[in-house]
Amino acid sequence: MTRTPQTLLHEILRDLARFGADSSGGVSRLLYTPAWREAHDHLAGVMQRLGLRVEADRVGNLYGRLDGSTPDAPVVLTGSHLDTVTRGGTLDGAYGIAAGIEALVWLRDTWGTPRRPLEVVAFCEEEGSRFPLMCWGSGNVTGMNDCREAGRHRAADGVTLKEAMEAAGFGRATQRESRRTDLGVYVEAHIEQGILLERRGKRIGIVEAIVGQRRLGVTVGGSANHAGTTPMDLRRDALAGVAEMILELEALAVRAGPPLVATVGHVEMRPNTPNVIPGSVMFTLDIRHTNEERLASFCAAVLERFATLAERRGLTLEHAQRSSAQPAPMDARLRDALQSLCEERGLSYQRMVSGAGHDAQMFRSVCPAGMLFVPSRNGVSHSPEEYSSPEALADGLEVLGGLLHRLAYQGLLDG
Ligand code: GLV
Ligand code: MN
Ligand code: MN
Repeated sequence: MTRTPQTLLHEILRDLARFGADSSGGVSRLLYTPAWREAHDHLAGVMQRLGLRVEADRVGNLYGRLDGSTPDAPVVLTGSHLDTVTRGGTLDGAYGIAAGIEALVWLRDTWGTPRRPLEVVAFCEEEGSRFPLMCWGSGNVTGMNDCREAGRHRAADGVTLKEAMEAAGFGRATQRESRRTDLGVYVEAHIEQGILLERRGKRIGIVEAIVGQRRLGVTVGGSANHAGTTPMDLRRDALAGVAEMILELEALAVRAGPPLVATVGHVEMRPNTPNVIPGSVMFTLDIRHTNEERLASFCAAVLERFATLAERRGLTLEHAQRSSAQPAPMDARLRDALQSLCEERGLSYQRMVSGAGHDAQMFRSVCPAGMLFVPSRNGVSHSPEEYSSPEALADGLEVLGGLLHRLAYQGLLDG
């Protein structure tokens, strides 16, 4: 097979980067914000002009479709997410969408009508950056989330997911239901967001499994009191207690060893004033591992330890799970197909685990899923510094196109 052209890929990436571009040089395109909505409209226009059948569903997942010559055959789906983190880069999510669009157009123009319907999707959200849940888009497609629960989730500014969704023009009963039962396979191309490929000098990452995650909110309560008149032995300082908890979390995670990772990424405290002892602190926990039992037992051990530390200081402790995703192995046949596509093209590859969460993991009990990575410069992502070379982006497009060809035209995974 000849190399796919890459003009479209770069045009789409360049144009998407404008929506949510901020003063840091990065992109902040949070779910259902005006920047997100503009990117959505732009992408719909691009797909329409390219001759794909375009449709958005009730939560705002955006599809472009090529009908298959066997219309009822299970759909071959590729894509990624349209949202970004706050001050993120231009490739996380956008690359999988742009590569998917370019691959579909190239396949159609080279090989004509596919046997199986072939679709590209821009999932509305994956990052969990605005609302306390992840993969809202792919979760609604796979049945892990339900649009009707949108009223229950609230952003930091108090807006509910339902309100934000409706303000962006979604959530209407007349719009197509998000849940799909016609999917045969999901394939996602993504930047690695880590340094393994670059360190090993490999051009393609073949994902074996995606880590499971737990995200929790923890609130520690003490007594806000005068910083000058309260003796040290009479304080119930919520922040001092949380400081101890964070260091303990780090020690426990180091002791558990890879692939376990644990992070406190967000902290808020009250009253947050120089001359008042902190009365309450809320922080988030993000804990990941490839093994579900180890993940669950680590989380339980951490919470038990936090309870002991809180009790020792006379602090209250509350915690609530905000979201959870189980570890997701990628389909072995797709992993092997990715490997043989790399071998045919002389592209070096690395089989690896993904420490980042991805839409592909939501498909674990719905249909086979596969994922490929391209190297990220210096392993940096979720940052304006995120960058992958044009050659790396082209390698991933080439392999994605090859895999979609095998799936939609050549019968890989048929029957
Ligand atoms: C998503 O990008 C995550 O892994 O947090
Ligand atoms: Mn991503
Ligand atoms: Mn991300």
